[in-house]
Amino acid sequence: MAKRNKITIVGSGNVGATAAHWAVTKELGDVVLIDIIDGIPQGKGLDLFESTPIEGSDCRVLGTNDYKDTANSDVVVITAGSPRKPGMSRDDLLNINVKIVKAVTEQVAKYSPNSILVIVSNPLDAMAYVAQKVSGFPKNRVVGMAGVLDTARFRTFIADALNVSVKDVSTLVLGGHGDEMVPFPRLTTVGGVPLTELMPKDKIEKLVDRARKGGGEIVNLLKTGSAFYAPGAAAIEMVEAILKDKKRILPCAAYLEGQYGAKGIYLGVPVILGANGVEKVIELKLNEEEKAALNKSIQAVQELISKIQL
Ligand code: LAC
Repeated sequence: MAKRNKITIVGSGNVGATAAHWAVTKELGDVVLIDIIDGIPQGKGLDLFESTPIEGSDCRVLGTNDYKDTANSDVVVITAGSPRKPGMSRDDLLNINVKIVKAVTEQVAKYSPNSILVIVSNPLDAMAYVAQKVSGFPKNRVVGMAGVLDTARFRTFIADALNVSVKDVSTLVLGGHGDEMVPFPRLTTVGGVPLTELMPKDKIEKLVDRARKGGGEIVNLLKTGSAFYAPGAAAIEMVEAILKDKKRILPCAAYLEGQYGAKGIYLGVPVILGANGVEKVIELKLNEEEKAALNKSIQAVQELISKIQL
């Protein structure tokens, strides 16, 4: 008999609840939504569970405050933490979210020692680092969600500007999920055609800039929180790749041991994502300009990680 997957989502705020929604819509497995706030995970979980007959999705959904209910999850998505407010950078969240992610990871690792962790909390690369250190899980079993979201934003803007299908736009972003992230117009294609042949350089640069600041654009509009539809969908695309062992090549925050000149930090790079989590980090040759941009991003992440006290 086929085994039913179990997915725990930590944090029942907008990102967590939206991720749960996508997971159920895609019928990826049973979902446990957990939060420290009493009532919210239970209420949202039950509401989502009651939507399953309409969607025809055979997933159980449970909202809880008790980590016992999360036991033996296959994948745990960690969204817990404070989101940014207008004027804040993701990095401003470091101190408060280190404490939260540390506490959450201890519980998750205790009850689901064989799970794969997908980290969504910000500042992303630093929180993935915290989760790996605190869980003690092998590096392939802790991965951060950022590049899927950042590339989705870039793909949206490109498809919209060219009036073509979003499906046909393929791109890559490297580096930390911060203001120094590095989108790659050189490696962007639309239905196999290089973007550089479809759009003038200055127009591409405008879209790169908008993608880079995409998270902040939403924060400024919402005023009381940050993006959640695209982040939730991005996290679940990674969960799906893991649970179905799809071997997707996706930009994710992975632990680096010398690749791209970075060591002992999490950073956004293209990886093969499958049943074993990060199965391979793909290293590609960069030109001098790209190397310089990536080094700036590596420095920013390194600096942030050096401030972490566990
Ligand atoms: C964003 C936040 C979630 O990029 O980091 O929207």
